[in-house]
Amino acid sequence: MKIRFEELSFKYDNTPVQRNVLESLNFEILEHDFVGIIGASGSGKTTLIQHFTGLLQPSSGRVLIDGQELNSAGMDLGDLRTRIGIVFQFPESQLFEETVYADVAFGPQNMGLSEAEVHDRVEESLRLVGLDADHFSKRSPFHLSEGEKRRVAIAGVIAMNPDVLILDEPTACLDPEGIRIIEEILRGLHRLGKQIIIVSHHMDFVVRLCNRIIVLQNGKLIYDGDKKSIFNQTRMLNRANILLPRVLQVIKRLFDHGVIENSDIFTASELRKVLTA
Ligand SMILES: Nc1ncnc2c1ncn2[C@@H]1O[C@H](COP(=O)(O)OP(=O)(O)OP(=O)(O)O)[C@@H](O)[C@H]1O
Ligand SMILES: [Mg+2]
Repeated sequence: MKIRFEELSFKYDNTPVQRNVLESLNFEILEHDFVGIIGASGSGKTTLIQHFTGLLQPSSGRVLIDGQELNSAGMDLGDLRTRIGIVFQFPESQLFEETVYADVAFGPQNMGLSEAEVHDRVEESLRLVGLDADHFSKRSPFHLSEGEKRRVAIAGVIAMNPDVLILDEPTACLDPEGIRIIEEILRGLHRLGKQIIIVSHHMDFVVRLCNRIIVLQNGKLIYDGDKKSIFNQTRMLNRANILLPRVLQVIKRLFDHGVIENSDIFTASELRKVLTA
């Protein structure tokens, strides 16, 4: 699915300060993209993703889905929200049923699938996020750990089999093991052909996973490019109040000093392999 933002600006009406929270945004999400949208707190990330499915309406500009304007009469928003799934910043806001099974089943049931199909989707989605259906199905989603809640929220979205998955701060409140699990789930979903958009200020996580990075500063897009080029963008990142991850700072120094020849390295384990080769 191609998602194109054209000159999109947005301001909230309910605040006394009438400034644009998003300012003249132009970018396109392409098939097979694995995009990280990073920006400091308050830069407009959560506001931005709500424009992908019409949860917020642009003050000016537009969003095109495969060439069709999102706010046009022919656009079926209900259908769009099954094709673009959003896992929100606080998974609790998305969990509301009494059991994990009912929660994950909610989306596919609303799509009018048969009980048997719903059952298959629930089992498959729980499997994809690494939760044992026998163990978790009957439990309350509210009595789970943060990491498990987030995985249930992801399962609830992928149960609708969306083409695009957007995750808002998927690593918040997770320990390194929880982060690693989410990372594996997202890699797996990308391999299955999903387009994935991660919104985060957790730069390490984004750089490990994504191919392309978009940087927001005060609602403006100040960078959109290949992750390889992010090394040379320390000033831009400073301006956006984002720290280059420590491992990338080390890799950049080693590259600048000629200790390593390859700048196409993004993780400590890749660096270890190169240094011990
Ligand atoms: N419902 C709202 N009504 C009015 N202003 C809002 C609302 N939600 C967010 N804002 C304002 O819009 C700006 C962008 O907020 P947003 O939540 O999109 O930022 P963010 O990049 O997601 O931040 P964080 O990293 O802290 O989640 C902020 O100045 C915020 O105060
Ligand atoms: Mg946010």
